[in-house]
Formats: sequence, C-alpha cells, structure tokens
Amino acid sequence: MKLKIKHIALALLGATLLAGPSLASGPAKQADQRAPLVLLDAERHIVLEEMRNFLAVLQIITDAVPREDMKEIARAARTMGSGAANEIPPKTVAKLPEEFKVLAGGVHTLFDLIALDAESLADPKHTISQVSDLLQKCNACHGIYQIEVDRGAARKKK
Ligand code: HEC
Repeated sequence: MKLKIKHIALALLGATLLAGPSLASGPAKQADQRAPLVLLDAERHIVLEEMRNFLAVLQIITDAVPREDMKEIARAARTMGSGAANEIPPKTVAKLPEEFKVLAGGVHTLFDLIALDAESLADPKHTISQVSDLLQKCNACHGIYQIEVDRGAARKKK
C-alpha cells in the first residue's frame, strides 16, 4: 500500500516536472475572468459556508443512494430546499445580481424536487440523475462568478 502511494507521488511529481517548462514558456495563464461578486469578508464567509453545506448534503445523498435509504435522501435534500431557513441575510442578498439569485433559486428548487421524488418514486437511479442535474447547476454558476472581498469598505468601517 505504502509502495503504491510512493509510485503515485512519483508519477505526480513527474507530471508536474514535465508540465512545468511548457507552462513557463507558453502564453501567460489568463487571470480569473469570472464576474466578481463584491462582498464584505463576513458575507463571503456566509456564502462559502452555504456552499460547503451544499457539498456536505450531496455527500450524504450519494452515500444514501446505494443503500436505497430514500428517507435519509429526502431529509438531507430538504435541509437545502427552498423551505430551509435562508442563511443569507437580506442585506447581502441585495448585493447579488439577479442572475445569481435565479441560479441559486434553481438549486434550492431542485433539492426540493429530490426530496419529493425520493418519497413518492423511491427510485435511487432517478435520484442520482437528479444529483447529476444539480451538479450541472453548481458548475454553471461556478463558471460565471467569483467572490471578491470589498477591502475598501472593510477599511472605511475601522
Ligand atoms: C448561484 C451561484 C452558485 C451556485 C448555484 C452554486 N455555487 Fe458554489 N460557489 C459560488 C461562488 C461564487 C463561489 C466562490 C467562488 C470563488 O470565489 O472562486 C462558490 C464556492 C463554492 C465552494 C467552495 C467553498 C469554500 O469554502 O471555499 C464549494 C464547495 C461550492 N461552491 C459548492 C457548490 C455546490 C455543491 C453547489 C451545487 C449544489 C454550488 N456550489 C452551487 C456560487 C455558486
């Protein structure tokens, strides 16, 4: 086992060394072009915490799928549904562009649907295809936005 890890580590090191020179001589990597959501540090923390909760709930769901534990799937999905207490304060929500809110709403609605279908259809294959649709929505938003901390506002406050 240890030997295997060593092999993988060496292979990764090799790949890095091979990629290194070509990256250095190639065109400079473009800076992050995604649209910035300018938030306060505390707001960034709230948004990222919700993101990590999304990921944690997806882990619970994918763990429950092979066990066909539809009750657990419904329970977990509901914690991220549109009925769940909205963690993001209105003042922060007001700073977010309309498109962001639409994309975020779509994710909450799909969590609702996953919960409802888990109960009514109880088909794990259907659940996993819904999870794939959900991940597509996560990816779509991640491709558009990045968070930028409003350092100026933070300084002015002090
Ligand atoms: C409406 C937009 C949007 C949606 C939908 C969305 N995210 Fe994000 N997510 C973001 C943004 C913006 C960031 C910060 C990216 C950055 O600044 O580079 C982020 C960051 C994250 C992070 C990093 C958290 C950290 O602590 O750094 C995780 C994990 C994540 N998202 C998971 C998910 C998952 C899983 C889904 C789908 C269930 C999802 N997100 C849906 C916008 C979104």
